[in-house]
Amino acid sequence: MSTTPIITPTANSAELAYYEYLSRMWWDNKTSVASLHRMNAIRIPWVVETLIKLGIAKNEFVNTDQPLQDLLILDAGCGGGFVTEALAPYGCTVVGLDICSEILEVAKAHAALDPSLTKNITYVLQCIEEHAEKNPEKYDAVIAFEVLAHLNEPELFLESCVKCLKPDKPIFVATFNRTIASFFLSIVFAEYIWGFIPRGTHNWFRFSYPNEIQEILEKNKCKVQEIRGQLYNFLSKTWHWSGIQALKFSMYAIKKK
Ligand SMILES: C[S@@+](CC[C@H](N)C(=O)[O-])C[C@H]1O[C@@H](n2cnc3c(N)ncnc32)[C@H](O)[C@@H]1O
Repeated sequence: MSTTPIITPTANSAELAYYEYLSRMWWDNKTSVASLHRMNAIRIPWVVETLIKLGIAKNEFVNTDQPLQDLLILDAGCGGGFVTEALAPYGCTVVGLDICSEILEVAKAHAALDPSLTKNITYVLQCIEEHAEKNPEKYDAVIAFEVLAHLNEPELFLESCVKCLKPDKPIFVATFNRTIASFFLSIVFAEYIWGFIPRGTHNWFRFSYPNEIQEILEKNKCKVQEIRGQLYNFLSKTWHWSGIQALKFSMYAIKKK
């Protein structure tokens, strides 16, 4: 069932239609969405360890099994909730925000399968621009994973994400690099030769250079602390960190006071 889409400068209607279609298979491990889910194996520990390392996680909880207690985290462009759900068991409250209502319904239904998760998760159907207006400097961390390549005006999206952040807190961003290698690996190979991602998932022109994202963040009073590359092993079907940023990169930056 299709509902009225949220019209916002950052929304790309073709991408939203695609995510509406993908929502039906989001949590099915046998489908193409699985390669996104597999990123959790490295990206969730990275976020948790970084929050501990930066002293954002509160001292009294660091050595417990819920080290992120009392933190409020925004998962911007949360999709069906891979990141939101994976962070909630660490004790933080996670707000999953997306503008695709179908995908949020899937996210809510999946989270409801585990009642221990639901108290820590809120899903919000709203564009980031409006969310930022209503929730300035509210969050202890903002995550924008794999969303920049699926919207219009990534600069406005990131600016709004930063607005939601408290000073001295981190924003985490991950997206595809705009290189010849990413064109061949993520589009020609993954979509057309191997075929494990549906054709049309990626638009190479929406990929970003790490320095472009760094510039946007620094224009918005953030200081980039780390940029790391990410590669996929097509045989073992696992993601791993790498010094090579040619396919994908992840970075985090701290908002200055
Ligand atoms: C590839 S999914 C990423 C899901 C999730 N962040 C992850 O990494 O598992 C991209 C998501 O971005 C959402 N999206 C696209 N444009 C958006 C916008 N302007 N504001 C919020 N979400 C948006 C789509 O609806 C989709 O759910």
